[in-house]
Amino acid sequence: MITWVDRALSNFSGETKKLKQLGDRHKGYGVVEAHFDVVGQALIKTLGMALGDKFTDELKGYWVIVFGMVKSAMNPKIRVEYFDMHGRAHHIRLLLDYFGVDYEDRRIDRPSFFANKTAGNYTFG
Ligand code: HEM
Repeated sequence: MITWVDRALSNFSGETKKLKQLGDRHKGYGVVEAHFDVVGQALIKTLGMALGDKFTDELKGYWVIVFGMVKSAMNPKIRVEYFDMHGRAHHIRLLLDYFGVDYEDRRIDRPSFFANKTAGNYTFG
């Protein structure tokens, strides 16, 4: 499964610009982020009804990942993940707030940080 996702991601990177443009057009259609969850669930349910037993849990898992990738590429959003303190990344939060940028302000505690680091969840280590 990991190999599959890896391959999908590497082919996918060339499409992200077009998907971002598609996402921008969707904003013009009045689509908001919450709509994607509804459409994603409807897609998974439809595939399940159409494919029956052939829609295995594994296949369903792939579709959930692919939909999540397309959704993220259509709505790229900055996420600042940092301790709940006035350290270095706090200046980034202040700047984003100042310029009114819509971003995810994720505050983490030290145990979560070290757990993520040990699990290799950070791109730059
Ligand atoms: C994986 C997610 C989605 C994909 C790939 C997708 C794809 C598309 C495409 C290719 C179009 C044709 C027009 C264009 O290229 O701009 C379109 C139109 C549209 N989509 Fe989506 N869409 C997605 C999610 C959604 C969601 C979540 C909604 C909201 C419920 C939505 C609502 C619409 C509307 C209202 C139109 C315009 C229809 C029209 O004016 O005829 N889409 N979409």
